[in-house]
Amino acid sequence: MAVALSRLLVNGVLLAIPIGASLGVLFGIDAYRSNHGQAALFSGDTDGTGSGGSTGSSGSTVTNNGVNSTIYCQLSYGITPASKGEQFTLNPNQWGVTDSTSGALCMNITTFNNETYPTKTTAPEFSVTWQFDPGPETAPVHAFPNIMVDGVLPIELEKMTEIAMDFRWTYGVGDTPAESTNTTDLTANSANFNVAVDMFFDSDKTAAQNSTKAKYEVMVWFAQVGDSTQPNGNQTTTTRKLNGTTFDLWSGTNDVDQYVLTWVATNVTDTFTGDIYPLITDLYELSGDDYPSSTDYMGIFSYGSEVFSSDKNVTFWSPKLSIDIQK
Ligand SMILES: *[C@@H]1O[C@H](CO)[C@@H](O)[C@H](O)[C@H]1NC(C)=O
Ligand SMILES: *[C@@H]1O[C@H](CO)[C@@H](O)[C@H](O)[C@H]1NC(C)=O
Ligand SMILES: *[C@@H]1O[C@H](CO)[C@@H](O)[C@H](O)[C@H]1NC(C)=O
Ligand SMILES: *[C@@H]1O[C@H](CO)[C@@H](O)[C@H](O)[C@H]1NC(C)=O
Ligand SMILES: *[C@@H]1O[C@H](CO)[C@@H](O)[C@H](O)[C@H]1NC(C)=O
Ligand SMILES: *[C@@H]1O[C@H](CO)[C@@H](O)[C@H](O)[C@H]1NC(C)=O
Ligand SMILES: *[C@@H]1O[C@H](CO)[C@@H](O)[C@H](O)[C@H]1NC(C)=O
Ligand SMILES: *[C@@H]1O[C@H](CO)[C@@H](O)[C@H](O)[C@H]1NC(C)=O
Ligand SMILES: *[C@@H]1O[C@H](CO)[C@@H](O)[C@H](O)[C@H]1NC(C)=O
Repeated sequence: MAVALSRLLVNGVLLAIPIGASLGVLFGIDAYRSNHGQAALFSGDTDGTGSGGSTGSSGSTVTNNGVNSTIYCQLSYGITPASKGEQFTLNPNQWGVTDSTSGALCMNITTFNNETYPTKTTAPEFSVTWQFDPGPETAPVHAFPNIMVDGVLPIELEKMTEIAMDFRWTYGVGDTPAESTNTTDLTANSANFNVAVDMFFDSDKTAAQNSTKAKYEVMVWFAQVGDSTQPNGNQTTTTRKLNGTTFDLWSGTNDVDQYVLTWVATNVTDTFTGDIYPLITDLYELSGDDYPSSTDYMGIFSYGSEVFSSDKNVTFWSPKLSIDIQK
């Protein structure tokens, strides 16, 4: 927390502004551990029940006509459903939850027993229902429940040709998926969250696959809801429009000294079809150590919701998602 705290002390203006969102931290490590058959890093979490605020039960499964929906409430252990196409790892990733946290988060993952999804790059459907009381201003984030692409990375940035995304999501107050997103209702219930892609880059292939070691964290925010939900650093003058959505670039550093570049959509973008690779090539056309270069590697790509706080249970639903990283 050294960097964040000193920024707080030396910059009076920042005192009033919540510390920027800092993602990652634990999920990369734990995805690595789960892929290698190791238990989660949190002790006392081997039964799948959170040791902090998460008290919901895990593992309740409903199976119908070859469709399996299972609820997972563990803090950090990843789930990699069997698939005949692209492999994904889903993770509740409650890295900001401590013993004193008040709240809970569970992830509902829907898989097909035939292991065959509509396309080779289609992800299983999932939803996340959560509620957390606000954390301290210096550590406002409780979790980044997410789905991560397995098997394709690392890839050198300049060797990629496309990152095709096709998605729809909704966010709503309550325990079940909302038909559509009503931001007024969410903010009336003090919900603070984003919906984001989270990527990690480094000139070293191995470091790029480690979310705490990688030199760069690059995010794309498709929604920014609530006053606590702020990107790291300052807004730059760089913008980019992709298939109707305009993104503004923010630049800063986080509390583990990574350069953080965040593209923030100017409007809530709950459906999107397009190639987000230009958001990466734009970065290495900018000069300075704060920006990655074309020979750096992307080691991690994930999509999820960074969860801050909410008065009531809210549900993030991902009924449609496909991610196709081409080289
Ligand atoms: C709120 O969400 C949590 C986490 O998903 C769940 O365990 C709990 O049962 C929900 N509360 C109610 C009242 O439904
Ligand atoms: C696999 O299972 C799903 C869910 O039951 C079904 O919709 C789909 O058609 C099945 N695919 C194949 C190739 O059998
Ligand atoms: C449902 O899927 C989960 C995760 O793949 C698996 O552990 C569980 O055994 C499945 N349940 C049934 C009834 O098939
Ligand atoms: C989990 O998601 C499936 C698919 O959307 C849904 O049918 C099921 O009711 C959900 N389970 C719970 C406990 O909400
Ligand atoms: C959105 O939520 C607000 C506040 O709860 C409500 O007044 C409004 O009618 C809702 N809008 C729609 C389109 O449902
Ligand atoms: C990731 O990097 C951190 C910080 O350098 C290190 O402590 C950790 O062991 C690394 N994780 C893995 C899985 O290599
Ligand atoms: C953001 O802007 C302020 C005011 O111009 C400046 O003091 C600060 O160093 C900038 N922060 C970053 C991370 O660039
Ligand atoms: C999109 O964002 C721009 C800039 O913030 C704003 O002027 C515009 O009204 C927004 N459009 C919608 C439909 O919300
Ligand atoms: C742009 O988005 C529309 C849907 O809004 C989609 O039909 C179209 O294929 C997208 N274009 C590209 C180039 O991806």
